[in-house]
Formats: sequence, structure tokens, C-alpha cells
Amino acid sequence: MSKFLSADSNPFSHHPDFSQLGYQVIQELGRNREGGRITYLAYALKLNQKVVIKAFYFASAANDLSVKAYEREIEILQQLNHSRIPRYVTSFETSAGFYMVQEYKNAPSLGIKRSFHPEEIKQIALSILEILVYLQKQVPPIIHRDIKPENILVDEHLNAYLVDFGLARLKGAKMSLSSFVVGTPGFMPPEEQFGHALTEASDLYSLGATLICLLTNTRSVEIGKLIDDKQRLNFQKLVPQLNPRFRSWLVKMVELKRKHRYVNASAAMAALKPIQVIGAATGLDNFVAAIQERKRFNLLILATLGLLAVVSAILIISQPGNAGKRLLETKECQDLELSKNCLKETGY
Ligand SMILES: Nc1ncnc2c1ncn2[C@@H]1O[C@H](COP(=O)(O)OP(=O)(O)O)[C@@H](O)[C@H]1O
Ligand SMILES: [Mg+2]
Repeated sequence: MSKFLSADSNPFSHHPDFSQLGYQVIQELGRNREGGRITYLAYALKLNQKVVIKAFYFASAANDLSVKAYEREIEILQQLNHSRIPRYVTSFETSAGFYMVQEYKNAPSLGIKRSFHPEEIKQIALSILEILVYLQKQVPPIIHRDIKPENILVDEHLNAYLVDFGLARLKGAKMSLSSFVVGTPGFMPPEEQFGHALTEASDLYSLGATLICLLTNTRSVEIGKLIDDKQRLNFQKLVPQLNPRFRSWLVKMVELKRKHRYVNASAAMAALKPIQVIGAATGLDNFVAAIQERKRFNLLILATLGLLAVVSAILIISQPGNAGKRLLETKECQDLELSKNCLKETGY
């Protein structure tokens, strides 16, 4: 649907009037000045329900990127059908810009400061991973490319909703040079920063960074504080109470090389489900964590050497007439205090 209406000359100064189209703007939900976007909560009179109207203003965003983002968001939302992704409703145009109307999800975004228990953060992670599994099941798979606290809504039952498909791409779609580095610094995986192809593991990096922000109570704009001089997200010391297996899971989510991350959302979800988030580590937890983090690589070597030693001892002992067996049997004889007779019996 495309209708031309007269529009306010400065949409950034007050709410626009969409009453002729049957919408009453209630409040602003967010704005992105550089991108020329404002997102409004509105009341749809005909539908008798709240909706979200995302406006792309020509005056402040008269560039190809924002028009493309608008078109892409519509195209992708139209093809999706998931209860935790807002549904596309309609779109219209005024002399001031384009507007996309979508379903309103009644849940605050993670951009609003809230604090969660690590167990709750695991639940949020699983909820987002379920959405990513759905997106990655599409043919071709969909990569969101802008997962961060502001684009995730979480309700009181810890159900997570994913919004803002303005940067979303179909896997394998060609990207123009100008659209490479568009994600949010700190949440963008390194492959995107360097213009390499994106895969299912790319969104995992951004989700990992988001979860680290939640665990460490770090605001999105301050995520740089967690990045060390090797470009790694360094959070371990800030949350010492985490179970090492959960910590390793997170480390793997934000590996700089995508081949070291989980291959996709469903692998990350399967690995996370059985993990205990908090509490004392068992020996197995520590061992698994040490191996996964690849930091204590020598531990693995030691374990392998130990195993080899045991196997060779068994082999030596099981050889008939060998020195090991002789030694053992002689020892047995001594223990039984039958040295002489026994030695006679065994012949050693
Ligand atoms: N469908 C929705 N339901 C509820 N809140 C929403 C919805 N879509 C967006 N929001 C809120 O509006 C904010 C801005 O919307 P978003 O699509 O992320 O715009 P932008 O592209 O400018 O970042 C989001 O951070 C979120 O808080
Ligand atoms: Mg957004």
C-alpha cells in the first residue's frame, strides 16, 4: 500500500499525525539519527490494537542505505512466521518518508537496564537461539546481523523476541561495499568487520557478546571496555561464580575465528541445554572446560601420555614370561611369605 500524505516538515520535533491512515501515535520507542529512523508505538484504530510504526525519513536519511534497509526489512519480515518475531502489517509513504507497520510485542528491550540471574540469562539465551534456529532453517538461511541488547525484547516469563531486521541478509547474498560494516561495534563479528562472508556462526558472536553484557551488567555502548588488546571479549574475571562449562560455552560463542565457534544455532543450543550455569565445578566440568578453552592444552597432552603409559603397562604385563609378570609374581610370593616354595612353584 502506498499513499502520499502531507507530512510535518520536522518529524524529529514532535510525533507525526497518521490519523488519516487510522493510526494514533502514542510514544516514541527509539530513534537513530544517523540512519534517519524513528520507531513509534501507535494505536491502530481499525485493528483495535497497538502496533509499531518504523519511520525512515527522507530529509535525514536521503541515502540508498536507509531505503535499502527499509525494503529489506519488509521483504524479510513478510516471509517470516514465528511467534517471537513481530509480524509485518503494512507500509505507507508520505512526502516525509517511508513507514513500516509491524506487530507490537509487549516486552521491554534489553537496552533498558535490568539485572538478571545467570540462570535467567541462560533461559534468555535458549529463547533467542530458538529464534535463530528458525531463521537458519529458512532456505537460504537468514542472518540477522544486528543482534544486540536493544534489538532483543524480553518479557516477564523470560521469553525473548527478536526485532529490527533492517540489516538482515540471506546467507550468500552479495553485499555492496558500502553495506559491509554496518553492524554495531563490539557486537559485530570480526568476519563482518573484514568483509568476509557471513555464516550461521556470525549471529552467534553477536548473541555471545549480548549475553556477556547481561552477565557483566555492561551497557551496549560500553562493551569496548571488555575488549582486550587481542580484540577478545574478556569477561571471565568479572563473573567468577560462573560454572567453567558455561564460561567455556560463552568463550566459544565469541571466538574471533568463526570456525572455532559453534557451527550454527542448533549446535550452540544443544551444547548449552545440559550445562549448569553457576556453582562449584566438578572434576569433569573443569576437565571439559580446560579442553574446550584450549588454554590448558598441555593438560590434554598429559592425560594422553598418562593413558599411553597405562596401556603400555597392561601390554607388558599381559606378555607371557615377560619381566613385568615375573616381577609381579615374585612380589606376590614375597607377600605370601612363601618365597622359597613359591619361587620353586613358579620357577622364577
Ligand atoms: N515490534 C516491536 N515491538 C515492541 N518494541 C519494538 C518493536 N520493534 C522495535 N521496538 C523497539 O523500538 C526500538 C527501535 O526499533 P528498531 O527496529 O530496532 O529500530 P532501529 O533500526 O532504528 O534500531 C527497539 O530497540 C525496540 O526497543
Ligand atoms: Mg535497532
